[in-house]
Amino acid sequence: MGKIFYVTTPIYYVNSEPHIGHAYTTILADFLKRFYRMLGYDAFFLTGTDEHGDKIAKAAAQSQTSPQAYTDKISGIFKSVWSDMDLQFDDFIRTTEERHKKVVQMVLQKVYDAGDIYFGSYGGYYCFGCERYFTEKEMVNGKCPDHDKKLDYIEEQNYFFKMSKYQGWLIDHIKNNPDFIRPERYKNEVLSMLEGEALEDLCISRPKKRLQWGIPLPFDENYVTYVWFDALINYISALGYPEGERFNKYWPQSQHIIAKDIVKPHGIFWPTMLKAAGIQPYKHLNVHGYWNMEDLKMSKSLGNVVRPMDLIQKYGDDQIRYFFLREMTFGLDARFSEASVINRVNYDLANDLGNLVKRSFNMAEKFFNGEIPEGNGDSVGLLALQQKFSEAMDEYRKNVMAYRFNTGLEHLWEFIRYLNKYIDETKPWVLAREGKKDALGCAIRNLLESCYAVMVLLSPILRKASAKVMDALGMNGIGFNENLATLRSLKAGNRIQDVGILFPRLEKEEIEVMEKNAEKKNSVQEEGLVDIMEFSRVDIRIAEILEAQTIEGSDKLLELKVDAGIDRRTIVAGLAKYYSPEYLVGKKILLVANLKPAVLFKRTSNGMLLAAKKEKNDPPILIEVNPAIPNGARLS
Ligand code: MSP
Repeated sequence: MGKIFYVTTPIYYVNSEPHIGHAYTTILADFLKRFYRMLGYDAFFLTGTDEHGDKIAKAAAQSQTSPQAYTDKISGIFKSVWSDMDLQFDDFIRTTEERHKKVVQMVLQKVYDAGDIYFGSYGGYYCFGCERYFTEKEMVNGKCPDHDKKLDYIEEQNYFFKMSKYQGWLIDHIKNNPDFIRPERYKNEVLSMLEGEALEDLCISRPKKRLQWGIPLPFDENYVTYVWFDALINYISALGYPEGERFNKYWPQSQHIIAKDIVKPHGIFWPTMLKAAGIQPYKHLNVHGYWNMEDLKMSKSLGNVVRPMDLIQKYGDDQIRYFFLREMTFGLDARFSEASVINRVNYDLANDLGNLVKRSFNMAEKFFNGEIPEGNGDSVGLLALQQKFSEAMDEYRKNVMAYRFNTGLEHLWEFIRYLNKYIDETKPWVLAREGKKDALGCAIRNLLESCYAVMVLLSPILRKASAKVMDALGMNGIGFNENLATLRSLKAGNRIQDVGILFPRLEKEEIEVMEKNAEKKNSVQEEGLVDIMEFSRVDIRIAEILEAQTIEGSDKLLELKVDAGIDRRTIVAGLAKYYSPEYLVGKKILLVANLKPAVLFKRTSNGMLLAAKKEKNDPPILIEVNPAIPNGARLS
C-alpha cells in the first residue's frame, strides 16, 4: 500500500465562533498534513462544522434567525478563519449538507436492518450542553462536570443502538491495538469506562415534538437522529462512503484528533457504530489536553476567550504555530499566556534559530561575497554534523508521527544549538584571518547546508521563514528528500539573498516581570539548601494504591488507601482533576510516610504521595515507580 495519511479535526459546533482551542486542533491537523506531504505521503485533511441538535437550535432561536441561516453564517466564519490562517483543509464538511445526510440515513438503515437498533423507553439525566445522557457515575453532585449545570431528568420513548453488544469486542480491539487510542492515559480512561460496568445502549433519536433540527430517521418520520450519531459519521460521509474512491483510499489510514472533552463519543460510540455498520475501525484516536487561561478554562462567560486571528496578527503565524506545537505536551493540559508566547519567540526563534541563520548568512556574505562556497577541500567536523543532523531528523520524524510534537522539536533545537556552538568553536573569522580558505569554505558551506536542512524540516510549521531561507539559498521549492542528511544539497557558486531578520525579538514589560520572578525563585533555592541529615529525616517509601475514590464536595481531592509496607493507611491527594480513581488503583508510588497527619474534608491524611510538575501551574504528573520494588522499600 502506498503512503497514505488521513487526518480529521472534530467538526465544531456552530454555537460560537472559533477560539484558540479550536485553532489548536486545526493547526495540528494542518501541520500533520503538510508534514506527511513533505515525506511524500498522499495526505488528506478534513474539518467542518456540526450543525444539528438542541444546542444549535437554541442558539439560532436566541439570535432570532432560522437554524439554517444561523448555521450558514457561523459555519462560514469557521471556514474563513481557517483560510485566513492559511490552514489548508482538503474538504470542509457541514452536517446539514445533502451528501452527509444521505450517508447518515444509509448507516442508520444498515444498522437497523441488521437488528442493532430497537425502540424502547428511557429515563435518564440529560445535559443539553453535551447533548447526551449521563450515568450516575459520570455526574458530579448531580451536575455535568463540563458545564457545571444541574442535569435534567428526561423520560421518553426513543430508538436505541445496541452498543452493549460490542463492549467485549471493543475491549479486545483496544487491548490488541495498543495505539488505537493515544496517549495511554486516554486509552486507560476508555478501558476503565468499558471494564467498570456494563455498557448501556445508546439512545440515538430525539422525538420531533421536542426537536426538529436534525436528520430524520429513515425508518420513523416522527424522530430525528441524535446529534452525536449524526456528527461522527462526517468522518466517512466526507470521503464519499460507501463507494467513494477517497473512502477506499483514506479510511484505512484514518487518524482523528480531538481534545479530552469528547473521548467517550469517539472512543466508545464511534468504533461500536462502525463495527455494527460493518466498517473497519479508524486507525488512531489522538487525544490532546486543554488550553487553559492561567489555570481557568477558556469560556465566553469568563470573558477570557482568545481569538486566533488576533494572536496571529500580533505575533505572526509561523510564531503561533511553533508556539502551539512546542508548548503543549500532547495529552496534557497547558496554560496559555502571552508571556509564554513571547518567551518561545524570543528564545527559541529569535535567539537560537534566527541568530544561527543570520550569522551563517552574514559570514557567507562577508567571506565569500555571498556565494555558496564549494567547501570540499576540508571537512571541519562535517561527519559529526551529518551524524547529529540525521539523529535529530530521525527523532523529529519518529516523535511527530507518535504525536510527541514538543519532543520532536526539542531534538531539532538541540541540533540548532549545536550549530551555534559550532560557530563559536570553529571561529570562521579566525580561519579567515589565518588564510585557511579551504577550512573556511567548508565551515560556511556546512552552516548554510545545515540551515537549509533544518528549515526544510520546519517548513510545515515555519512556513514563511522556511520559504524565505530556502529561496535565499536558491532552493525555491526544493524540499525534503532522503539525501538531506548528507548536508550537501546546495549548489556551490549560487548567490545567496538577504533574509533580513527572520524573527524580530519581542520586547514587553511582561518579560521583565517574568525574569524578576525567576530570580526570586533562584535566590530562595540558594538559601533553602538542606544538608544530608535533614534530608534523611524524610521517610520516603514505595507504596501501592489499593483503593481510590472521589470525595463528595471536593473536585480536587481523592481518598486513597495505600499499602505502605509498614502498614496500610489512608491518604488524601489533590489528583482528582488529573487522574481517575480507576487509573490509580494498582499503581506503585512514592509516599512521604512520616508527614504530620492532616485533616481534609473530614478525612485524616497520613502521608503524601509525590508527583512532579515543571511549572507551578502545570498539571501534576504522578511519580510511578517500577512495580518490582517491594512495598515499604525506603528511598536511599
Ligand atoms: N461538535 C462536537 C464534535 C463532534 S466531532 C464528530 C464538539 N464541538 S466543539 O465545538 O465543542 O469542539 C470541541 C473541540 O474543540 C475539542 O475536542 C478540541 O478539539 C477543541 N477545543 C475546544 N476548546 C479547547 C481548549 N480549551 N483547548 C484545546 N482544545 C479545545 O465537541
